[in-house]
Amino acid sequence: MSDVEVKQQVRKFYDQVGWQVVSDGFYQNARYEDLRPVSREYIERCHQRVNRHLVKPGKYLLDAGSGPIQYPVYLTYMDGYQYRLCADISIVALQEARKRIGDRGLFVVADVANLPFKADAFQGVVSLHTLHHLPIAEQKKAYQDLYRVLDVGSAAVLVNGWTESKLMKRWHWLERLMEGVGGWVARLRGKKPAEVTLVEKKEKGQNSVTKPTGTFVEKLDANWLRRELAGKDLQILVWRSVSVRFLRAVIHTPLAGKLWLKLLFALEESNPTYYGELGQYPLIVFRKKNGI
Ligand SMILES: C[S@@+](CC[C@H](N)C(=O)[O-])C[C@H]1O[C@@H](n2cnc3c(N)ncnc32)[C@H](O)[C@@H]1O
Repeated sequence: MSDVEVKQQVRKFYDQVGWQVVSDGFYQNARYEDLRPVSREYIERCHQRVNRHLVKPGKYLLDAGSGPIQYPVYLTYMDGYQYRLCADISIVALQEARKRIGDRGLFVVADVANLPFKADAFQGVVSLHTLHHLPIAEQKKAYQDLYRVLDVGSAAVLVNGWTESKLMKRWHWLERLMEGVGGWVARLRGKKPAEVTLVEKKEKGQNSVTKPTGTFVEKLDANWLRRELAGKDLQILVWRSVSVRFLRAVIHTPLAGKLWLKLLFALEESNPTYYGELGQYPLIVFRKKNGI
């Protein structure tokens, strides 16, 4: 499939499926997140990490691949900015985003790898869970383009899963064990065991919509990113070290799930670089300094 066809497929998916409201006011896309009360506080605190690095106040915040600004915490990213420019290839995403931020938003159907904006235009950039949709060569372009449109003295904050997480690999036995126990308990209660396949595939970028095409031999890891952004002021920190599949398998209210997540959050805070590089989801921060 050509790069253009991949993008068409992604756009079609989000227009027709991903950004359709399915139940309880949630978008279909939220099925890939852990929305259970036991994980809520941890997930919210991870989302808040984005705010630490944005340089405020500023006029324009670019949200590259904004989607519909689906979670209330996403609204906090624009505090301190006059306008949030939402760029997305899905028109439905932008229509939904407009319902949330109205006049403070600007909405542009655009490709994050070919941004139609002049250099240094934005005093802040956020991009969450979007670049993994692009074929690898396009991801490189997208990183460079996001850097290009970032204003001098400002910061871009990106969240994107690694191809493979060493930490999740190391803890895989626990995930498998707990999935086994969970399935057994579900059967005892006469319920169907939880579906993990879809989430697992999505996190690894393997479903038909997110899978990068072509000769995808390069792995997206910390070394790859450092090479791509060589010479730039780059930090790789932790956004969230564990996958949704791990959360769903291991974290449960009767097993002191909230407490475990508090501990995990404290560990991540104590060594953000380690958990960022080895965990599932890094928080990638780059700043543009004078003349670089
Ligand atoms: C997983 S959603 C994430 C949305 C939002 N950032 C969030 O975290 O909820 C990915 C979004 O990226 C958009 N997208 C995918 N490829 C894109 C591209 N090449 N250019 C612009 N947007 C893209 C999709 O339409 C979708 O809205």
